[in-house]
Amino acid sequence: MKNLNVGLIGGGFMGKAHSLAYSAMPMFFWPAPAIPVRHTIAEANESLASEAARRFGFENSTTDWHSIVENPAIDVVDIATPNHLHAEIAIAAAQAGKHIICEKPLARTGEESKAMYEAVKDTGIVHMVAFNYRRTPSVALAKRYIQEGAIGRILNFRGTYLQDWSADPDSPLSWRFQKNIAGSGALGDIATHVIDMARYLVGEFASVNSILSTFIPDRPLQTGGADALGNVRGGAGPRGEVDVDDEVLTMVRFANGAVGSIEATRNAYGRNNFITFEIHGTEGSIFFNYERRDELQVCFAADGNDRRGFRTVYTGPAHPYGEGLWPIPALGVGYGETKIIEAHDFFKAIAEGGSVSPNFADGYQTALIDDAIIESAEKEAWVDVPVLAELATSTK
Ligand SMILES: NC(=O)c1ccc[n+]([C@@H]2O[C@H](COP(=O)([O-])OP(=O)(O)OC[C@H]3O[C@@H](n4cnc5c(N)ncnc54)[C@H](O)[C@@H]3O)[C@@H](O)[C@H]2O)c1
Repeated sequence: MKNLNVGLIGGGFMGKAHSLAYSAMPMFFWPAPAIPVRHTIAEANESLASEAARRFGFENSTTDWHSIVENPAIDVVDIATPNHLHAEIAIAAAQAGKHIICEKPLARTGEESKAMYEAVKDTGIVHMVAFNYRRTPSVALAKRYIQEGAIGRILNFRGTYLQDWSADPDSPLSWRFQKNIAGSGALGDIATHVIDMARYLVGEFASVNSILSTFIPDRPLQTGGADALGNVRGGAGPRGEVDVDDEVLTMVRFANGAVGSIEATRNAYGRNNFITFEIHGTEGSIFFNYERRDELQVCFAADGNDRRGFRTVYTGPAHPYGEGLWPIPALGVGYGETKIIEAHDFFKAIAEGGSVSPNFADGYQTALIDDAIIESAEKEAWVDVPVLAELATSTK
């Protein structure tokens, strides 16, 4: 069992989640595929960097991410910065031969994502994009049921990601509302998680017909630091323009003939992290709600007419990742566990010399879907989604 040195770039919300995962992964999954060593963390200035190292248990800190990429002692580069830095860091890390885990969305656009994918393709390095929600055990259980044919041929996927942390027009104009940093709004930030789960569970997208809206056109400026995620009010200071969407709705035609819809918004008062999907197949249905993530609701058509209905399966040791998580169903898995599982699967791929999904090809494919959604909203028309040849036949 090897030690692998991690250089983490960005010590905000995701810096916290990834640091937790590196420390806890061997506690959950033992024997661990490798031991992640928290070697160096990079932050935007000296005080943030030294504070992040102390808080998140890193041996060293830096204000220059290049020093992580160039350090021969570092095995893994973890990109947890705002989106505008992902491409530059990932391409430099790939050229230096580092294994890379990059937060989602892979980048701001399909073009940037393509450059990142081309930098890692055929290099032998392990690359991963951090769509962690598909690693919720009940989502992986839904995948198992679908693969086993338990709900037959899929007809329809309805997915949502509804939040309200920025529904207040006085919550701050953080980087998430600025196109030059984020690329897009609710689309890249949250709808992409549902798009990733739709690809994972149903398959590739063939075409989309979409609406993008920006209901809150300006917000109070936020100065410096990590995104306040609406936890503070911006006050009466100067306001700046929001130039990204805050709501997206799209219809989907899948390549396998299934149809679907996806919606994401940050304006849904009362909804916090309301990620749901309902899937209808010829032999049954599946329903998932992240706010009740220990549960998977399933209905099998084969049950008799007098007992057919949704039943609740609580995930536990019998289900995906059960060997590493808690010993009793419904003890409770959280956001942290999805990141711990993600770290496990990433380090396993490195230790075994394999690959992992979702990787940069998946991140690029999701960016192509995002680009098609933007084009469709602009044209008010159906737009075809190109599918990478290497993904057209894969099983995700
Ligand atoms: N997988 C998920 O569920 C999930 C959730 C939230 C965010 N994200 C993604 O993670 C990434 C980071 O988001 P976040 O919520 O952690 O943002 P955040 O604003 O909380 O943190 C980003 C951090 O990066 C730092 N940073 C900025 N420039 C830097 C530089 N040049 N060098 C080093 N550090 C720098 C900032 O100071 C900040 O602390 C984004 O791509 C976002 O889309 C993913």
